[in-house]
Amino acid sequence: MPLSIVVGTQWGDEGKGRITDLLAAEADMVARYSGGDNAGHTVTVGGQIFKLHLIPSGIVQPNTISVMGAGMVINPQRLLDEIDGLTARGIDTSPSRLKLSTGSHLILPFHPLLDGADETSRGRATIGTTRRGIGPSYTDKAARCGLRAGDMLAPDFGQRVFEAVRSKNRILVEIYGLAPLDPEQIADEYRSHANRLSPYVADTSAQVHRVLRSGGRVLAEGAQGTLLDLDHGTYPYVTSSSPIAGGALTGLGVGPREVDRVIGIAKAFQTRVGKGPMPTEQLGPVGDMLRGTGENPWDEYGTTTGRPRRCGWLDLVLLRYAARVNGLTHLVITKLDVLGSLDPLRVCNAYRVAGQLIDSVPFGPHTLDQAEPLYADLPGWTESVTNARTASDLPPTARQYLEFIQQQIDVPIVLASVGPQREQIVRLGDW
Ligand code: IMP
Repeated sequence: MPLSIVVGTQWGDEGKGRITDLLAAEADMVARYSGGDNAGHTVTVGGQIFKLHLIPSGIVQPNTISVMGAGMVINPQRLLDEIDGLTARGIDTSPSRLKLSTGSHLILPFHPLLDGADETSRGRATIGTTRRGIGPSYTDKAARCGLRAGDMLAPDFGQRVFEAVRSKNRILVEIYGLAPLDPEQIADEYRSHANRLSPYVADTSAQVHRVLRSGGRVLAEGAQGTLLDLDHGTYPYVTSSSPIAGGALTGLGVGPREVDRVIGIAKAFQTRVGKGPMPTEQLGPVGDMLRGTGENPWDEYGTTTGRPRRCGWLDLVLLRYAARVNGLTHLVITKLDVLGSLDPLRVCNAYRVAGQLIDSVPFGPHTLDQAEPLYADLPGWTESVTNARTASDLPPTARQYLEFIQQQIDVPIVLASVGPQREQIVRLGDW
């Protein structure tokens, strides 16, 4: 059973890209299954930093085929920019190693406009979306009026774009009071995108199956994180897709029997961009310290929007929840190095909600907003861990921190990252 799924266990930005990149070295195919260019994955290879939004991070591995699955929404202009950017840096992005599912949905210029207008009209109750048109594009998918990558192959594609723009102009103008878009101009633009992107369009579900049937290994790459899942996240402060492991099956078109490993990625602390509850958020110096100054690309500022991320202590109640809804088989902890010099280290392992002590996510009449975090204090460390490669290189208190997480979550921690470089990984267990 050679399908492994990499999934974010928090609110995204857990460092999935670099772990995927590491695992991609032994995969024949890396397939992204959800989301769009709201995601931002940073991969550092030999001093070069790659910021990817749509193309799976496996593309930087020379022998891996990269797939963008049917569960994704694709902004064609951004995809072309990404292809051109990677090509300019010597990465092979030819259609033989980059595939776009016929079933993935296209983002059209009215989607980001509607996203922005929806956000503005929500007033103080905004979600804090990336305004990339993700929600409106998935809305069209669910309403069965979206355009898909496969449609780019149809002779009347330009006409369909024209009609879609004309129909959405009514909403832009009559509901939001915005200027109409030019259907003819957008149809021309999209015809030209289709010319360039058509060679990439493929039946990717069949391709994934072919690799699996021939004994190859496929890595399913999640975007965003469990708590942003449309069904299982902190609704309505979620994205509009299915980042959890189940999303890999629908998003790629594979069955559950193929799955071997479900690898959860968790940052050693908690971060969130956008609105919504975050029980362990730290607004003072601890939050600032975890966030970093923004001087380094791996500091806690959005890869896609540049927004400072909200930061706080690790929340094991939420991590336990993520282990359950994803069926995690393995856990990877990232950014352990960032915790150095914080003493004590606090870890939330229960909440008090309406006077009751609970160790799971509140449900029924109570919400996460009402959860008061209860912390266990663990000793910190002052020595640098960035050169650690095995468990015995870590200070005993860092080992204790990881062991505490493992014991509370009951999922083996196999890796911990201690810096942004590829080799800055501590191996703690076997797959
Ligand atoms: P949308 O996906 O742009 O609709 O945004 C919905 C919510 O998901 C907002 O809170 C965003 O900040 C958040 N979000 C979307 N993509 C990412 C991501 O890649 N990392 C972290 N948060 C994200």
